[in-house]
Amino acid sequence: MIKKRFVQFIITLLFVFPSLDLSAQSGCSNMKLMPIPFNCEISDGEFRLNESFNISINIESERLFKSAQRTMEILAGRTVLFFNTHNPSIYDSSNISSLIINVNKIGEIKLDTDESYSLIITEKYLQLNAENDIGAIRGLATLIQLLHADEKGYYFPCVKIEDKPRFIWRGLMIDASRHFIPVDIIKNNLDAMAALKLNVFHWHLTDDHGFRIECKSFPKLHELGSEGLYYTQEQILDVIKYASDKGIKVVPEFDLPGHATAWFIGYPELASAPGPYTIQRRWGIFDPTFDPTNEETYKFLDKFFEEMSTLFPYNYWHIGGDENNGKQWMANSKIQEFMRVNKLKDNHALQNYFNQRLEKILSKYNKTMIGWYTDEMPSLTKDYIIQSWKGRTSLYEAARRGYRSLLSHGFYIDLVQSTEYHYLNDPIPPDSILTDSVKNLILGGEATMWAEFVGPETIDSRIWPRTAAIAERLWSPGIVNNVDDMYRRLEIVSNQLEDYGLAHKKNYEMMLRRLSNGVDTEILKNFMDVTKPLYTYSRDRPHVFITHYPLTRVVDAARPDPDIARKFNRMVDVFVDENMNDPVKLNSISKWLELWKGNHANMLKIIAQSPTLREIETLSEDLSKSAAIGLEAINLIKNRTKTDESWVNTRLASLKAASVPRGESELAVLKSIEKLINYVR
Ligand code: ACM
Repeated sequence: MIKKRFVQFIITLLFVFPSLDLSAQSGCSNMKLMPIPFNCEISDGEFRLNESFNISINIESERLFKSAQRTMEILAGRTVLFFNTHNPSIYDSSNISSLIINVNKIGEIKLDTDESYSLIITEKYLQLNAENDIGAIRGLATLIQLLHADEKGYYFPCVKIEDKPRFIWRGLMIDASRHFIPVDIIKNNLDAMAALKLNVFHWHLTDDHGFRIECKSFPKLHELGSEGLYYTQEQILDVIKYASDKGIKVVPEFDLPGHATAWFIGYPELASAPGPYTIQRRWGIFDPTFDPTNEETYKFLDKFFEEMSTLFPYNYWHIGGDENNGKQWMANSKIQEFMRVNKLKDNHALQNYFNQRLEKILSKYNKTMIGWYTDEMPSLTKDYIIQSWKGRTSLYEAARRGYRSLLSHGFYIDLVQSTEYHYLNDPIPPDSILTDSVKNLILGGEATMWAEFVGPETIDSRIWPRTAAIAERLWSPGIVNNVDDMYRRLEIVSNQLEDYGLAHKKNYEMMLRRLSNGVDTEILKNFMDVTKPLYTYSRDRPHVFITHYPLTRVVDAARPDPDIARKFNRMVDVFVDENMNDPVKLNSISKWLELWKGNHANMLKIIAQSPTLREIETLSEDLSKSAAIGLEAINLIKNRTKTDESWVNTRLASLKAASVPRGESELAVLKSIEKLINYVR
């Protein structure tokens, strides 16, 4: 247990020297919390949990009661304590509950809802204070993560936490169009979002591949545009209530004017070319685009938005706007004539005209528009929010021009990049030269889960646990940026997320069982633990994907940032950086290499029974060969033998050959083996 005075010293240091790279970047950093709170003071002692642990709340807030109840359930599940009650009580002065929650009011679901809270844990009692119930819900998420255990049982360490978010917009987007994602999975993800203090669920509901929401005014939208896979309005309302109970806002996205094929299957007259239209099967950017010169388009959208606005209470609304290729506009003489008459010089100007019309319609329903950045700055009211995704320049450019903006570039979790990469993607880095007024227009960011290559079985494994690191980036102070410590805590959080029903871990095991065709998965796991899916933008070439292709291959099961590979790579980095020929470290490295070297012979037996694995047969062979090369290097290091260039060159050539992806997967440890070769050199 760190002593309180030491923690205060560290905090003082951080205020004086905010750029110091201390492993303890906040008083809480050596604990298990994610996101790390704004401020922590740990002291000696602990509050011990027993059956009589209970909660009381000072106001009637249905969602806070539910959250407290859920907290009790999770604590019970983890501790196996049979609590006397799971139901919180209303606080009165005679009350001697273990945890007393004090809030001033019921929070409104609005852009800048106060989410701050303070949590005090003493040996005798716990107290959670917040301006409103949403702040208290954030505090309960922290409390759950504070559960510790030792030989005597379960306890909360004594601590005083003052916490508040750095950014007000901390989102997760889920694309439910390219692959439909059932309600239960959405709800599990909302639970996980709340556990990580994310507060915006951006629901991408329509695209070329599916119209996923029931529409009563224009039923052919979902009837013809979804193949039966859509959310009923009852389900939508249920999800919104579920989210609101966790202080999460739901922002629907109806992507317009491009990415719109699914609208036109039932209503081809809205498009800029005659049709007929069918659901798109392949991935990419397609031509079907709304006709912005047709008054019927606006009448239709007005009625559509009117109906949808009764479902989605939050007053922010995403209109998409991305990747309109303009081909239908350019081929349509009526549209070209309209542009001439109205002095709209290009497609961008026409889209801006369209957006201005949408803005007027949506403002009738009290909705503020958000759109993806479209390569040029728009000319809309300054209410408009711009979501930056192709690069971060637009994030700053938008804010400089007075628009509020959101960062998604660098948070594209569908691209299967490392957690570290996302974690260090700070919307406003410490060396930013933006003025405060510009900085204030940067609302935060969103992780984006595009669904070309995920379905219900795999989506959790692409969102979690990496999105937990993004959540920390958006909640915690910018000085919290120690990557090793993030990974340490991420591993803990990743396990805890399973309590919410997430399948990011359990489906991995299940997929490996299926891939091994009934054989023990251990051998395949040795291989998979150091294999990662190919960067998504490099993927579609070898196969022409279509919407209903199976997502059950090695590439689908493989994890974007495999833990074992990362730990091995770190071990090699430390060994090489220290340059001490530390024999203990060398032995640990050898153990892994021995395992991989021998693995392929066993893999061959599994592949013989499981033809689905044939596509990675040579990759597995290359893992073994590369591991053997690593072991050769280690022997040379151990014997302190220098080697000649030709030895080095043949080994490097072999590693290069091993780095070629197969089955759209690649080995994640080759760079480290290369470092060992270069070390010998
Ligand atoms: C996008 O990724 N097309 C916004």
